[in-house]
Amino acid sequence: MDHVSRPLTSPLLGSVRVPGDKSISHRAVLFAAMAQGTSVLSGVLDSEDVRSTIGAVSALGAGVEMSEAADGSLELRVTGWGGFGPSEPTAPIECGNSGTTARLLMGVLAGWPVEVALTGDDSLSRRPMRRVTGPLGRMGVVCVTTEGHLPVTVSGGGLVPIIFESPVASAQVKTAVLLAGLRAHGRTVVREPARSRDHTERLLPAFGVEVGIAEETRSCWVDGPAVLSAADVVVPGDPSSAAFIAVAAALVPGSDVRIEGVALNPTRTAFLSVMERMGARVDVLPDVGPGAEPAGTLHVQHGAGLRATTITPDEVPSLVDEVPVLALLASQAEGETRFEEVGELRVKESDRLAAIVEGLAALGADAVAEDDTLVVSGPARLSGDIALDSLGDHRLAMTWALAGLVAEAPVTVESFEAVDVSYPRFLGDLHALASAEEQA
Ligand code: S3P
Repeated sequence: MDHVSRPLTSPLLGSVRVPGDKSISHRAVLFAAMAQGTSVLSGVLDSEDVRSTIGAVSALGAGVEMSEAADGSLELRVTGWGGFGPSEPTAPIECGNSGTTARLLMGVLAGWPVEVALTGDDSLSRRPMRRVTGPLGRMGVVCVTTEGHLPVTVSGGGLVPIIFESPVASAQVKTAVLLAGLRAHGRTVVREPARSRDHTERLLPAFGVEVGIAEETRSCWVDGPAVLSAADVVVPGDPSSAAFIAVAAALVPGSDVRIEGVALNPTRTAFLSVMERMGARVDVLPDVGPGAEPAGTLHVQHGAGLRATTITPDEVPSLVDEVPVLALLASQAEGETRFEEVGELRVKESDRLAAIVEGLAALGADAVAEDDTLVVSGPARLSGDIALDSLGDHRLAMTWALAGLVAEAPVTVESFEAVDVSYPRFLGDLHALASAEEQA
């Protein structure tokens, strides 16, 4: 499906509530499936990726009752397999476009005597899986990959704990190893080169499992064997989805937008400090109250005179999904914005590094990749009157749609349906803010 994004002539005004966080939704569903008892999950993101995880746990024997809440989120009652373990499914588990589903499932299955094949769409089948099957193999799991990719067959069994020095700062890898560690006898430790998102460390304790954390060494660990107990989880809004609305508000003159109920986990919000450094007007208003995940409202206003900044390697894991949209913002900032050591972008839902450079260049902006550093120089006039392919990548689809709002002529985004992976009602939220002035 093509989407034609037209230049906006009025500001974005009003409030939105972005859908539930994708990373937390996946984990809540998986942990509930692994737990003893019935968990109640609310605010769960209703998107293709999360539905892949829900389909997977159902196929593995968890009981799932699902209903749709008034705000479009999913409410789930999940009865887990607890100490009995998952049942062997009759067919391969289709993970669709979702890397989190595939990689976390490998850890979930690792310690159980089942043989399960995992498949994915074309994009997911190109993404590297050895980063997970490698450490799981050391723990005693037999994972047969297709030259390091999906389809992968996981044959679980008795596991030994390991100390794993991950070469990449990846929360998917970290989580897979920790989940496998819950079935090993002893302490399983993961050490990362930089701190990745910590939703697993925050959510496992709610399911009754302690996670050790040593910030100084960027390490965390679990002591196995351990069985999760059911928990009730409320999923806050997704900061990665909020980033698109925030950048739109920063770019469109006169805009003044509030984004409510957004997860404010510091391992996810580096895009806010980058926006502030660039001169965007961003206020963070934290919600009061307890919760494993802090949340609050983002207030973003258009700011004239954006300026360039440098995104350092230690910041990258906490904004890894926001680089495409921040690169668009950088194209409107004065000077040279550098995103250092963003090589991981090559193995996301598409080769995002190449796609950002090509897309921005096609729009008339100046972007180059110097090895693993992305350099965007601005400000550039975005010409529009072109078609850009999402490459089946949700975050590119939304980035190019935003480009159309501030370009001189419309931008057609091809394969726009990719947004269904994480933010199906993206256009609806944007239109509500765009028409707020007319409604006033
Ligand atoms: C995710 C971790 C990140 C991120 C992805 C979701 C997660 O991937 O890009 O969208 O939920 O753990 P990596 O762990 O591969 O960096």
